[in-house]
Amino acid sequence: MSTFLENQNWRYATKKFDASKKITAEDLNFLKEAIRLTASSYGLQPYKVFIVESPELRAKIQPVAWGQSQIVDASHLIVFANVVSISEEEINQYVKNICETRDLPIESMAGYADFMKSKILSLPEDSKNIWSSKQAYLAMGNLMNAAAEKQIDVTPMEGFVPEQVNEILGLDKLGLNATLITTVGYRHAEDVSQHYKKVRKSQEELFTTL
Ligand SMILES: Cc1cc2nc3c(=O)[nH]c(=O)nc-3n(C[C@H](O)[C@H](O)[C@H](O)COP(=O)(O)O)c2cc1C
Repeated sequence: MSTFLENQNWRYATKKFDASKKITAEDLNFLKEAIRLTASSYGLQPYKVFIVESPELRAKIQPVAWGQSQIVDASHLIVFANVVSISEEEINQYVKNICETRDLPIESMAGYADFMKSKILSLPEDSKNIWSSKQAYLAMGNLMNAAAEKQIDVTPMEGFVPEQVNEILGLDKLGLNATLITTVGYRHAEDVSQHYKKVRKSQEELFTTL
């Protein structure tokens, strides 16, 4: 079996973390790079990622996250927050970044910029919010795969009240919305769920070859 698939079998949504184990700065940087390098639609990366180290903030989040123990026990808590209503300015900033990174004149990207604006800015507000949150899900997936490669445990989480997390972290004031939380660290030896067999659809059920 490939290492990638072995890692997928190794990882599980951790229910109980060992609060005494912390991930190193080097590993944290590796995970941040995995998030940063994740592909996104058009390449816009319409989200911000908050590494919540403050124990006080984590204690405030726990009750609005179904009381889940991972929120306070895991080494790190990472909140993915999508841009609620992507703006023309955000697209312009991205185009500027492309031109600076690739040493291109800004005019050479005018067609692509107009194309992105015509597709995205015309979306209804709800759709803009959903579209940008989908991009954050990809980044979380990449984080999970990268963590598994380093045998770092992750719990992906939708089990929280976004409005309340937004308020605690001041995300609404930044035009952001808490899409996902991930807790990252090391499984507790007593977390029984690490021994559960994976429950997945069979290939026959999941795939259709046409
Ligand atoms: C988007 C998403 C949200 C999830 N939310 C939670 C959560 O709030 N709390 C939790 O303990 N597990 C959560 N899970 C974990 C899933 O229940 C778990 O990934 C799934 O049952 C498959 O099991 P495995 O990841 O252990 O292989 C979430 C998973 C995903 C992908």
